[in-house]
Amino acid sequence: MGKHDYEFVSNKAISADAYDSFLALYWQDGSVSRFHYQWLRDNCRSTERFDAATQERKALTESIPCDLRAQTIFVEDGEVRVSWSDGTADSHFDPAWLKRNSYDVQRKPTVLAQHQWGAEYGAALTSFAYPEVMTDDAAAGDMVAAFEKTGLIRLTGAPTDDCEVERFANRLAYVREIAFDRVANIRVSVDPYTLGFTNASLPLHTDCSGYSWPPNVMAFHCLQNDVAGGASQYVDGANVVAQLRKADPEALRIMTEYAVQFRLWSKNADTLSQHPPVILDEQGNLAVLRYANWTVQPLKTVPFDVVPGWYDAWRALAERINAPENRVSYRCLPGEILLINNHRVLHGRDAFDDGEGTRHFQQVYMELDDLSGFRRIAQGKGGVA
Ligand SMILES: [Fe+2]
Repeated sequence: MGKHDYEFVSNKAISADAYDSFLALYWQDGSVSRFHYQWLRDNCRSTERFDAATQERKALTESIPCDLRAQTIFVEDGEVRVSWSDGTADSHFDPAWLKRNSYDVQRKPTVLAQHQWGAEYGAALTSFAYPEVMTDDAAAGDMVAAFEKTGLIRLTGAPTDDCEVERFANRLAYVREIAFDRVANIRVSVDPYTLGFTNASLPLHTDCSGYSWPPNVMAFHCLQNDVAGGASQYVDGANVVAQLRKADPEALRIMTEYAVQFRLWSKNADTLSQHPPVILDEQGNLAVLRYANWTVQPLKTVPFDVVPGWYDAWRALAERINAPENRVSYRCLPGEILLINNHRVLHGRDAFDDGEGTRHFQQVYMELDDLSGFRRIAQGKGGVA
């Protein structure tokens, strides 16, 4: 890799060296960032190649010559300018933008700081005032930021009107409709398609495992709750996976490696997916958890020799999920909404006696992408790379 003797016009803030396939920029803070010429061309902000209004790329990435070189490079106040070996128009870059988007560090994909929790979170559940969230974008953005961190927050002071939870969803994002209900009424039903619509206890689970992309977020609104029993339970699956990684990495490997089938169906709809119960992201953190024992179909996709180990692994996962120290038990009051990350946090409930009272919740699903977008715009970060 040879260094070339380009003539630079540099200020004191930054200077540059040009190599065969990349440019090195030296920053005032002493750090250095290298940018491949192909990357620079790909991210050129000129009007021929980039649409400023939509912030979208117009030029085709695949049209960049693989042997693209810089002809000349100028580093001046407020601008890095590159002229190209293929004779096309110069590219101009804002140094601050380059620094912000530098990839020449061991930079991992942006991951929001996560707060993993156990039973202790029950006494410190992050709470927000519903009227404020419904009227103040900054407060709503703060609420989403807290939710991104913990996967479980509470709103208080919501009206107990029919479908208020749908108004809440529409305020922040969109209702993610599923095959069964747009707004689900969680109460004892005469013809239930799921145990949720009975007064039975519900083991800890995630919803809609039968979908290839289960709904990401559920909003759970308490309209009435004067039955005996029926407390809700919540468990942080990210915490469970972190514990399993330490205690039984083989169990975690099996839970992430073998797809099984999950099904949720009614008389009119049928959802069937095939995924490992635990899906991890590139950093090994929990991305999507599917855990609903009653939806797991016979293990015909797991190899014969693996099946006994699979059952051991499921037991190890279940043991962590059901450990009392990992579980928040919470009895919702009318006017409260629990916001739950359904890819991360499990929920369940105790059995209840509805002989002399009523337990009625309404629930909608949303997508975290839409909530995060609301938060970015509320924070003034919309469209900022
Ligand atoms: Fe559920």
